[in-house]
Amino acid sequence: MLNIIPSPCFVIEENKLLDNLRLLKKVREEASVDILVALKGMAFWHYFPLMKQYLSGACASSVNEARLIFEEMGVKSHTYAPAYSEADFEQLLGLSKTISFNSLSQWKKFKSKMLQHPEIKAGLRINPGYSEIETDIYNPAVPGSRLGIPIEQMPQTLPEGISGLHFHVMCEQDSFVLERVLNVVEEKFGHLLKQAKWLNMGGGHHITRSDYDVEHLIALLKGFKLRYPNLKVILEPGEAVGWQTGFLLATVLDVVESGGVKTAILDVSFSAHMPDTLEMPYKPVIRGAGNPDEYPYTYRMGGATCLAGDFMGDYSFPKELRTDDQLIFEDMIHYTMVKTTLFNGVKHPHIGKIDSDGEFTLLRSVGYEEYKLRLS
Ligand SMILES: Cc1ncc(COP(=O)(O)O)c(C=O)c1O
Repeated sequence: MLNIIPSPCFVIEENKLLDNLRLLKKVREEASVDILVALKGMAFWHYFPLMKQYLSGACASSVNEARLIFEEMGVKSHTYAPAYSEADFEQLLGLSKTISFNSLSQWKKFKSKMLQHPEIKAGLRINPGYSEIETDIYNPAVPGSRLGIPIEQMPQTLPEGISGLHFHVMCEQDSFVLERVLNVVEEKFGHLLKQAKWLNMGGGHHITRSDYDVEHLIALLKGFKLRYPNLKVILEPGEAVGWQTGFLLATVLDVVESGGVKTAILDVSFSAHMPDTLEMPYKPVIRGAGNPDEYPYTYRMGGATCLAGDFMGDYSFPKELRTDDQLIFEDMIHYTMVKTTLFNGVKHPHIGKIDSDGEFTLLRSVGYEEYKLRLS
């Protein structure tokens, strides 16, 4: 199979995506909640028609995402962004089912337009001021955060025209974290929850991870709905949809040695193609490789750009690495393609799929035209 896939290539595996979608559908049905796919984490639009069969729709944080949802999933998005420009807002009115505002000033600015569109539900993003995320770059509840309205600024009653609330303070976390977050949200914002018609609990729910306690989540959501029967509950995970659904195929272009360090230079870049590995940071899994000295041959993985820090290491292999060897970076579907850049003009990985019958199809190749079009 690998020999027919061009390198480098992001490859999604349909069976694995289906497993995730089935599980999310079960939660949706058993807990009577809506589950959306968040495009910021997972915008593999070839599979939007499939996702539509299992999920309740999608959420967008920009006009581009909302338009992609409309064009490829055929539904209007649940939209939230830190702020809307006048021009973007006009477009979002035609593309959105709900629009959540990050501040009361943004709500005031666009209120009259929203009232002319009673079919679009308006919400406010609240900031519960509580989260258990340890990496600050992913933590919307850090002191001074620009994301969401803190309780001190919220009026006692929901502003006229606002029907829902939205929060997002989780990242790769389980339902026990959600339980503690909900305790804080209810304690601080409970009176507003009683007045609202819907509550969007954001993303960061790692529902499809193998050790996630799905039954606990369902029980938690059911209990919440008993306390707030007035609320339609929405979850909008991105990562959980794309979690462990595919890989990035790479090829060794050269092996160099300096200061006692052996580096395999690859045709992929950590900076341009797997930016979370440097931002989070985390060390991605390479199929068949181990930690340094676990196997006899240890190497650093060198990225394809000229950025000195574009490397990851170290990994050990049972065999010596040679030019043209292929490597598989596991779990490279969510938060990769949506974040890639054409920095250095390095070759962007192709995008392909392995369908349920095990057949590979090349879906897209990004080339010089795309690189040139983004510059002038
Ligand atoms: C508002 C909002 N909703 C949903 C998500 C999706 O989160 P995840 O992909 O971690 O589930 C994010 C991610 O940053 C977000 O900011």
